[in-house]
Amino acid sequence: MSWWSEFADRIEPDAPIGLSTWFQLGGSARYLFHPRDIDDLASLLARAGQEDVPFKVLGAGANVLVSDDGFDGVVVRLDSDTFRTTSRRGDSWEVGAGADLPLFAHQCCDQGFSGLECLAGIPGSIGGAVRMNAGGRSGELGDVVREIDTLRSDGFAETLTHDQIGFGYRHTELGDRIVLSARLALERDDPDRLKGRFDELLQEKRRAQPLGDKSAGCVFKNPEGHAAGALIDRAGLKGKRCGRAQVSERHANFIVAQEGATASDVLGLIDLIRERVRRAFGIELEEEIDIWRPVNTPKVHV
Ligand code: EPU
Repeated sequence: MSWWSEFADRIEPDAPIGLSTWFQLGGSARYLFHPRDIDDLASLLARAGQEDVPFKVLGAGANVLVSDDGFDGVVVRLDSDTFRTTSRRGDSWEVGAGADLPLFAHQCCDQGFSGLECLAGIPGSIGGAVRMNAGGRSGELGDVVREIDTLRSDGFAETLTHDQIGFGYRHTELGDRIVLSARLALERDDPDRLKGRFDELLQEKRRAQPLGDKSAGCVFKNPEGHAAGALIDRAGLKGKRCGRAQVSERHANFIVAQEGATASDVLGLIDLIRERVRRAFGIELEEEIDIWRPVNTPKVHV
């Protein structure tokens, strides 16, 4: 009997998770787990911990690059109804980690609740968006998060307040805690005004970013005082290719995957960009996207 046999009806072995990321490339997960509820997730984590099997959570796959070798562990997907519900009490919203951020943001605008319209054009799940404090120049999700429920890697539940989450620029201090749900404080506003603002931001992004292509959004964080896109552009890298991966012609901080691209193509291009920007400006770019490399694989430098 395998260690995971009691979960067998909700585990897919050798699941091609790379294909469900926005890049639509990369390898498989040894196990893909769809927990029924929080207790089920806690039990799985405890068993995996006993077996020294690592785990990761995959949200909407909007900010993840899975290496071609995939992930040799359990990938959790919070896609059952339990993890996707949303409810409201007064102006306080509770939303499950598996809920879709753009859909929820739209729903809030429709119902006249302000706070998420600044996230127009940002794909992702609520859990992933909390973890990386998704946002842009007009605001960040962390601005409206009051507290979250999490599960620690040892299977214990923990509620964290806004301050304990440690929101920073595309950053939190959550470590390997799994976000289960978030409570948001939104303010009432006129639905037409909110929808107008949402659509305006979405149009702006459509103009400036290759939203229709296979990508994971901005690849690098903006270094203090600089825009990564501008640095990559000034280094002359727009349109630069590595295999079937290409620096976007529209926004240089996006890498787009063309038909037949592999994760190695994208990783090669990331290394090349980092090296060229370092050489041209003496600035070290830090990745914003979450790269799932096989354990113990050193970074390759061009
Ligand atoms: N720029 C260039 N060339 C380019 C791209 C940008 O010269 O190819 C210049 C722009 O002209 C501008 C500056 O770089 O002067 C900043 O560019 P932009 O206004 O497009 O914003 P950004 O800093 O590149 C950030 C977030 C985006 C978010 C936008 C809008 C980061 C790394 N990126 O982009 O977030 O959508 O602001 O709010 O913080 C993401 O997180 O995946 C993402 C795309």
